[in-house]
Amino acid sequence: MKINGTPYRSVWRDAQDPRLVHIFDQTKLPWTLDILDLRDVEAVAHAIRTMQVRGAPLIGAVAAYGLAFALDDDASDASLEKNAAFLHETRPTAINLRWALERMVAHLSPLPTHERAEAAYREADAICDEDVKVNEAIGRHGLELIRALWAERRLVQDRINILTHCNAGWIATVDWGTALAPIYMAHDEGIPVHVWVDETRPRNQGALLTAWELGAHGVPHTLIADNAGGHLMQHGEVDLIIVGTDRVTRQGDVANKIGTYLKALAAHDNQVPFWVALPSSTIDWRVTDGVKEIPIEERSGDEVTHVHGVDEQGHPARIRVTPYETKGANPAFDVTPARLVTGLITERGLCDASADGLQTLFPEQAEQP
Ligand code: MRU
Repeated sequence: MKINGTPYRSVWRDAQDPRLVHIFDQTKLPWTLDILDLRDVEAVAHAIRTMQVRGAPLIGAVAAYGLAFALDDDASDASLEKNAAFLHETRPTAINLRWALERMVAHLSPLPTHERAEAAYREADAICDEDVKVNEAIGRHGLELIRALWAERRLVQDRINILTHCNAGWIATVDWGTALAPIYMAHDEGIPVHVWVDETRPRNQGALLTAWELGAHGVPHTLIADNAGGHLMQHGEVDLIIVGTDRVTRQGDVANKIGTYLKALAAHDNQVPFWVALPSSTIDWRVTDGVKEIPIEERSGDEVTHVHGVDEQGHPARIRVTPYETKGANPAFDVTPARLVTGLITERGLCDASADGLQTLFPEQAEQP
């Protein structure tokens, strides 16, 4: 996607130094476009843990480069295993992290040690290139949904209102995004889409990142408080919900940013279609019951008791919004049961959020326990 007319991916190798990888520091967006240098596995782990990079597909892609850095120093079996485990510990909920690291280990283990580092960079590049293609395909399939909705409603309303939660845009993937890819494509082909952007407390990925992305692409959008969605749905102001996800079970339960479940409940009560966009790397075929089995990241309560932003001069500001003694609790994700999900948008097409639906699109996974 473009920033001020220049095309970017969210992670890329330096043009001069192939052992240097760049990311945007997402903790500084949208106020400052800070490009960070990553050269070692510790810097990658730090970037993921502190959410300088975030979004399920992107953390997997960046972790793959982290493993390549580690193998540059020591390409032994022990190093491969130790560093994959080290990177895996950085964030617990998004399965793309495990997916990318397992793919790297499976690809690299059979190779002689002197070939591993170079092969690791190439495999990380391949993960990135595939992510772009996969998200583009998700966009095309999701676009069909928006086109159909617009064809049905164009005589009675002047725009399609789509609600999204958190940020599942290009900055959360290598490019395009998942939930936002169909929206970008619909906008580009002239469908009048308008996006209700949930602020997504406590870290405000909607207010900071989704609003920034949509604005940069010229997509009309309005920021709403997290609790406004139900009210808008009751008044016919939401035609469609599309969110991303960090992990989908083989039965179609969906883990995503905290608050997603409440949107799905309100959507169900108001017959608003609730779709989830995901690459197949987000499906955890080993897990069936999302509520019981998906680990939910617990972040610092300080993220709830304080908000951060900038003052009118652009200086960083962090403000407490509670009494001094009040403590916060901060589960970062929740699980929406499959029964509340209208359907899944994947790179292979649309399907029901169910074991049957997923296995129709991914028959090669049918045999796994
Ligand atoms: O905590 P974050 O910002 O990494 O959470 C991100 C989300 O919840 C996204 O919706 C999800 O990762 C999908 S990104 C395409």
